[in-house]
Amino acid sequence: MMDLVIKDIISETSNIKRFILAHKSGLALPTYQPGAHIVVKLPSGLERQYSLCRLPTSGKEYEIAVLEEPNSRGGSKELHKLTVGTALQAKTPQNHFLLANPKASALLFAAGIGITPIIPMAQMLKKSGTDFQLHYSAKRAQQTAFFEALHSSTYCDKVTFYFSESERINFNRVLSGANRTWDIYVCGPANYIEAALSEARKLGWPEHKLHREFFAGPQSEILNEASRNAFQVKIASTGEVFDVEPGMTITETLEMNGIYIPTSCEEGWCGTCMTPLLEGVADHRDTFLSDSERYEGKIIMPCCSRARSDALVLDL
Ligand code: FES
Repeated sequence: MMDLVIKDIISETSNIKRFILAHKSGLALPTYQPGAHIVVKLPSGLERQYSLCRLPTSGKEYEIAVLEEPNSRGGSKELHKLTVGTALQAKTPQNHFLLANPKASALLFAAGIGITPIIPMAQMLKKSGTDFQLHYSAKRAQQTAFFEALHSSTYCDKVTFYFSESERINFNRVLSGANRTWDIYVCGPANYIEAALSEARKLGWPEHKLHREFFAGPQSEILNEASRNAFQVKIASTGEVFDVEPGMTITETLEMNGIYIPTSCEEGWCGTCMTPLLEGVADHRDTFLSDSERYEGKIIMPCCSRARSDALVLDL
């Protein structure tokens, strides 16, 4: 864990704040590549993951942008109440959304706060002299984080904005005009990513050219829909069977019955709760597992995922 302090807070929009973080003793911070994130430990002990939203400059600052979620379980609300000078801890940067090759042309797609890991990618591509396009969807100009910064950036000619109140992005139109050798990077809500990638697949993009990162967690409406189903979990080693009621997660259900699976994010992105699955079909709601791991169906993230079958047998 690094000991950080909030050095500055900038209001991007009415519900998005940008936080400049520095080491509390002014030390240099570990560097990172575009697409990286840090896990921030808040004063309450909550841990949340945020993308680093600009390329390293002085080597002594990290910058994150945080949307205050109306349905927040506490993380974004708590962060929005903090003031300059507050001490925080954070884990060193990690990256599951790497810019595969800064010299390879790329299409960047972002929706809402999903712009945060995309900005350093655009900065890096510009710096490398690589051709790229950035397509950024938001509700309206006044609610668009980095609107002014992108307009005045050195790569503003590469940026196209889409405001849902006037014009939504048409992935078919954008992708039809692009070269299939370009890499595609998408960050935003699950349905936005799904729309972009399924259109790219239809148009013949090879899988290895498709890169995506969800918001910190799956969309709340997906979770809500999923949480309406009841199912059973069986513990393989003891044969005990428990009912997972609608609105309860597997980890919550097991914990109530004295079986503790370690968790951290409780949103499906950190990997802490990964559990082997012996039988049953998981309804994967995490953003941690790869497509092939989901397809194999031998692992589940029980902090958020549920069941498509009547029961799941966990290797516990
Ligand atoms: S606790 Fe983070 S993925 Fe389950």
